[in-house]
Amino acid sequence: MNEVREWRVPGRVNLIGEHLDYNGGAVLPIAIDRALSIKIRVRDDGAVNVWSGGRRASFAASVAPGDVTDWSSYVAAAVWASREAGIAVPGADIVVESTLPTGAGLSSSAALTCGIAAALDELAGTGRSRVELARIGQRAESDFVGAPVGLMDQLAVLCCEADHALHIDFAADEPSLTAVPATWPAAGLAVAVIDTHAHHELASGEYGARRDECTRAAEQLGLSLLAQAQVDAVLKLEDDVLKRRTRHVVTESVRVRGAVKALNAGEWTQFGTMLTASHESLRDDYQVSSPELDVAVESALESGALGARMTGGGFGGSAIALLPAEAVDGLRSRVAARFAALDWAAPDVFVVTPTAGAH
Ligand code: ADP
Ligand code: GAL
Repeated sequence: MNEVREWRVPGRVNLIGEHLDYNGGAVLPIAIDRALSIKIRVRDDGAVNVWSGGRRASFAASVAPGDVTDWSSYVAAAVWASREAGIAVPGADIVVESTLPTGAGLSSSAALTCGIAAALDELAGTGRSRVELARIGQRAESDFVGAPVGLMDQLAVLCCEADHALHIDFAADEPSLTAVPATWPAAGLAVAVIDTHAHHELASGEYGARRDECTRAAEQLGLSLLAQAQVDAVLKLEDDVLKRRTRHVVTESVRVRGAVKALNAGEWTQFGTMLTASHESLRDDYQVSSPELDVAVESALESGALGARMTGGGFGGSAIALLPAEAVDGLRSRVAARFAALDWAAPDVFVVTPTAGAH
């Protein structure tokens, strides 16, 4: 009987630094205490069977892009990308269990692809580094599933440390990773997630469109990556849309630096101010927020949050708020009331703590 291995892979919340990873900027995610459990056992017949949420799917370990398009496509994608990266995949039984909501923008997809890659790598004894595993997860999403994502989520779910945020700088080809102590719980504060349950179909197309706009803006400025732009870059562009995208990237980079300083110094008011300013920039300049996310952020600020913002790609999903721990219940009722007045279902509000990446 082949041995069963288990990997636990958390989701992530990005504190600040949104839509900067693919622009060569810096980001500041935490891994959260909601996770996927991936149990895996080698099979000798070259078949891959997957069980998740009461569903079962099967495909061959030799799976290729286009072969699997149902709910199990992210698993198939990870199997394919692992193989492409030189990890031998014999066939496997894979059982996925989750305390991480899907579709909430908390990177269940990165947790899944990176967890599968890590598990297959361990079984094959290939010894890939965490950054290499993150790239396998990214390739699975971009080249198999067709979502042209950056590398933040994969690095967050693999490389974060407990009680720390992870400052990831994408300025160079090889990302640089620095753990920053996350001490807000000791200050009586909490980071709450507001899962709006809203999903907008345009999300994937708009994500690619933003990437293209940033590439165009960088080209017009003579830069290889837009995060290299200086503060006056906006003045050099003609097109209003490209000006907005560039203003977000430039100002968000400044905010990330400020937020890291504030986090290190425990200056929570300052940190909160950065979060809210980031949301405004994503709403007005990058234009990736949604009515639900805006109301969630307003509700948080009305409930005494020091700062609040959408987190992740946008167009639905989750917002986060930094607030006194005793204000979380008030936020839950206020956001429920604000949503009810608009005939929207009540969001889930839950506190997250910074945890360790995949293990
Ligand atoms: P995000 O990464 O933004 O949180 P989603 O939560 O929407 O994205 O997840 C994207 C996809 O990842 C889902 O549509 C599904 O195909 C796959 N996925 C995520 N979690 C699971 C799971 N527990 N079991 C199977 N597939 C999953
Ligand atoms: C996510 C994407 C990340 C990052 C983020 C926005 O959905 O997977 O790579 O670009 O959006 O900061």
